[in-house]
Amino acid sequence: MKSILFYALSSLLLLSACMAPETSSVEEVEEEVTHTSMASEAAVHLIAVVHPTEGNSASGVVHFDAVEGGVQVSGEIAGISPGLHGFHIHQYGDCSAANGTSAGGHYNPSGVDHAGPEAEVSHMGDLGNIEANAEGIATFDAFFPAVDMGMITGRGLIVHASEDDLVSQPTGAAGARLGCGVIGVAAMPAE
Ligand code: CU
Ligand code: ZN
Repeated sequence: MKSILFYALSSLLLLSACMAPETSSVEEVEEEVTHTSMASEAAVHLIAVVHPTEGNSASGVVHFDAVEGGVQVSGEIAGISPGLHGFHIHQYGDCSAANGTSAGGHYNPSGVDHAGPEAEVSHMGDLGNIEANAEGIATFDAFFPAVDMGMITGRGLIVHASEDDLVSQPTGAAGARLGCGVIGVAAMPAE
């Protein structure tokens, strides 16, 4: 009985001695994983690839870059009519509906009225308008102090058929959704 107990105790000690270094290396790995996911939450470069909704041809790539005091939004959207087109971050990163309505309304975490990005108060998703040239290509590069990179990650980006009048509630009367994309985490662009 005594020897069995001794055997049990010593093997337990042996076991814990063997386990000790392994346990700490597992902890190290877990810590690394945590750091990686924290880095993703504070992504410095997001990207949205815009695809046309059914019957439309709006497409392009939009970059969101964390800069001092806000977010720089740049890119190009082609396949739209010349002139102004409402351009918003919508609540859901869901472009599954043929007409893009699955993306929900404008992303509005503060529960305020629709407006333009220059207004004192507006939806976080209110990026205003992009302007297409005679070839139907809009090229833009604008700064948005109120946009939060972490909060917009995984949400939708919509290009509209009409101009956002920056006044009408709750959408700026920007009309149909011509293109839809999902804002996702991207690698830093190579300089
Ligand atoms: Cu919109
Ligand atoms: Zn809005």
